Amino acid sequence: MRIPMMVGNWKMNNDNDEAWDLAVAIAEGLEDLEGCQVVVCPPFTALVSVGEAMEGTDIALGGQNLYWETSGAFTGEISAPMLTSCGCEYVIVGHSERRGRFGKAPAEECLLSVFGDNDATVNKKVKAALSGDLIPIVCVGELLAERQEEKTDEVVEGQVVAALAELVEDEIVDVVFAYEPVWAIGTGEVCEAGEANRVCRIIREALAEKVGADEAEQMIVLYGGSVSPGNIQGLMEQPDIDGGLVGGACLKDESFCELAKVAAEVKGE
Ligand code: 13P
Repeated sequence: MRIPMMVGNWKMNNDNDEAWDLAVAIAEGLEDLEGCQVVVCPPFTALVSVGEAMEGTDIALGGQNLYWETSGAFTGEISAPMLTSCGCEYVIVGHSERRGRFGKAPAEECLLSVFGDNDATVNKKVKAALSGDLIPIVCVGELLAERQEEKTDEVVEGQVVAALAELVEDEIVDVVFAYEPVWAIGTGEVCEAGEANRVCRIIREALAEKVGADEAEQMIVLYGGSVSPGNIQGLMEQPDIDGGLVGGACLKDESFCELAKVAAEVKGE
């Protein structure tokens, strides 16, 4: 039995005061929630205050990225031990905005990424997260151009396999995957629920190759990309979608709380 999960990726939004207010409002709004693991991923600068605002709740804290070394001369980077020392239990790895795969841009333009995450660095980050006691939430998903060329399944499977390179079964079972079709992120154009489910199933089948079908059935696979209170019900009704990785709709407490409640309700039926 998989427990649904709702993850709020705040991206580069909210200074410390705004973060505190939003975290307090989410904590209050979800006071009575049961049956959904909620994870909030504020910017690094707000991790401590958001952690404080949520103290005593079941809401977990996550980072939006990490570096694979634990410490040293890596200006501007944040390590797994630093995240756990701020109270993080989760970390997002390989978001398309860090892989330089943006919106509906053609593949060539995406190479202009300034952050440079790729399959190899994602794999290093997944390993660093796991050895640092963090659960990685690994983002995978195709560009619009790749979908049009009918390469979705191949791209997504390739990203899953690359993220898990050299990991053993015991480690892989802890990893959370998020299918985020890049063209659906921040565009208001959600992937149709049945199609999102189909790709989440492909991810689960790729996982089954690594850990066996029974273990893969216990793993959490999320959908992300324009998730909103208006489409969450249909997404959560899908058997292979265990929850959401949410951008825009997690920046307002009412909409984020609504998403978590619907996830708990639908999956609890
Ligand atoms: P939106 O919900 O704003 O489309 O963002 C999704 C996302 O990128 C979450 O990581």
